[in-house]
Parts: sequence; structure tokens; C-alpha cells
Amino acid sequence: MFNQQTQMFFLFFIITLLSICDIFAWNDSSLEQEQSLRLAPNLNNGIKVYEVCSACHMPEGWGVPDGTYPQISGQHQNVLIKQLTDIRQLNRDNPSMYPFALPEEIGGSQAIADVTAYIEKLPMLNENGIGSGKNLELGKKLYHKHCSECHGKNGEGNNEKFYPRIHGQHYNYLVRQFEWIQSGKRRNANPEMIKQIKNFSQNDTEAVLDYVSRLLTPKEKTVDKNWRNPDFD
Ligand code: HEC
Ligand code: HEC
Repeated sequence: MFNQQTQMFFLFFIITLLSICDIFAWNDSSLEQEQSLRLAPNLNNGIKVYEVCSACHMPEGWGVPDGTYPQISGQHQNVLIKQLTDIRQLNRDNPSMYPFALPEEIGGSQAIADVTAYIEKLPMLNENGIGSGKNLELGKKLYHKHCSECHGKNGEGNNEKFYPRIHGQHYNYLVRQFEWIQSGKRRNANPEMIKQIKNFSQNDTEAVLDYVSRLLTPKEKTVDKNWRNPDFD
């Protein structure tokens, strides 16, 4: 019915379409994500919701330096919304947090908009867990070749593009996430990042994340470790 050229054209068209779908699949936003992104946040309710979160992420949002709980304070709101809705919808496994993140526990899209706006405004800590310091030159080279295009020169990420801030993050947490992204265990990851890190050895991974763990959080968003969250005094 179709000549060979037309058939080739359709084949090419379908392959292009499939690869575009694959690129967007890491962030084919759910209704809940769409709604949370649009709603005007109520910061007072954000404080109320955050009480549940503070049990693990600490009242200041700094997590724990051993990396069990990540620092979430100061993270871009869009990133927080995406991660939280992915966790709720089981696109990202987080069994210990899951029961506390459910709508029955904290509320719907409005609660997500509220708590994430609150967390983004919390000041950050620079005294996060760091690596061994053995291979920082290699780490720097790898970072600027493979990571800075998305995560920024100083690990500042990008709110509009849903790229997380990774400066100030605890080393052990960085390693755990990086390995889960590389192996596909963290299913919601960006396919371009997976491509970039495909051939990273253990040594490369430790070097680059050691370098990341020492990148400084922005001065105007940073306080010292004696700061206490006044909303939870
Ligand atoms: C029972 C402990 C616990 C509670 C309560 C908890 N979390 Fe978490 N949260 C975790 C753990 C553990 C991780 C990291 C999981 C991993 O390593 O993949 C995490 C990860 C996250 C992340 C992803 C961070 C990133 O950098 O991608 C966000 C966002 C988050 N939590 C927000 C919240 C919010 C908001 C609440 C309150 C509604 C909350 N968490 C309550 C334990 C908890
Ligand atoms: C194409 C853009 C891109 C590149 C290149 C990239 N990343 Fe990512 N990275 C992302 C996105 C997007 C996420 C969040 C994925 C998601 O939504 O779960 C992420 C997540 C992460 C996380 C988990 C953060 C968290 O808070 O849980 C770490 C760690 C990380 N990247 C490190 C790196 C390092 C190190 C490199 C370079 C070797 C790198 N990335 C290259 C886009 C990128």
C-alpha cells in the first residue's frame, strides 16, 4: 500500500515519538503535582503539616549528617513537590516515610503546596556530612564535565526544570541516591542523568559526590548550626 520511503518515514516518526515520551516519562506530572504547583500556599498550614516531617527531617529541615535523613530545607519548591508526589504515588520507594506522607495523614494538593513552600523558606546548614577528601581533583573534573550543566556550578539546581539543589546534602545520602539512580532502583530519575553516569565506577562516584558534598550553600540562605527553628520552640 505504502512505498518503502513512506514506510521508512513512519518508522522514523514512531521511533522519535517513543524517545520523546521516554524523556518526559520521568516527569509526566500527575494531577496532584499539577495542582500543587499551581495553588497559592498557606504558610501557617505549612508549619502544621511540617510537624509530622520534623520527626525525621528535624525541626530545622537539616536531616542527619550520617545521611539517614536528607537535608530538605531550602530545596526548590518544584523539586519538593515532585519528590513528595512521586513518593505518595509510589513512583519513588520510600517505605519509612510513605505512611506519613499520605493524604489521610497530611491532606491533599493544598497541604503539599503549603508544606513545600514552608520547607523551601527554611534556612540551610553547610555543616553536612562529607566524604573522605581523598580524590577531590578527580571529583571536580567529573562534576564540571557531567553534572554542572543541570545541577549548576555550585550545586544550586534549577526550580523550573525540577533539578534538585545538591549542595549542603549529606554525603551518604548523595551516594545512596546516586547508586539507586544508576541502577534504576530510583524509578523517577531523569533519563539524561542516567545516561551521563552509566559508566561511573565506585571510585568516580565517591570522588564526584565528595566534591558535591563540599559545595557551599548560598550565603543568604545559610545559618550556623546553633540556629533553632522558632516555629517549633
Ligand atoms: C519516618 C521518617 C520520615 C518522615 C516522618 C518524613 N520523611 Fe521525608 N524522607 C525520609 C527518608 C528516610 C528520606 C530519604 C529516603 C531515601 O533515602 O530514598 C526522605 C526523603 C524526603 C524527600 C526527598 C528529598 C530529596 O532530596 O529528594 C522529601 C522532599 C521529603 N522526604 C519530604 C518530607 C515531608 C514534606 C514530610 C512530612 C510530610 C516527610 N518527608 C516526612 C524520612 C521521613
Ligand atoms: C540532565 C540533567 C542532569 C544531569 C546531567 C545530572 N543530573 Fe543529577 N539529577 C537530575 C534530576 C532531574 C534529578 C531529580 C530526579 C528526580 O526527579 O527524581 C537529579 C537527582 C540527583 C541526585 C539525587 C538528589 C536528591 O536530592 O535526592 C543526585 C545525588 C544527583 N542528581 C547527582 C548528580 C551528579 C553527581 C551528576 C553528575 C555526575 C548528575 N547528577 C548529573 C538531573 C541531572
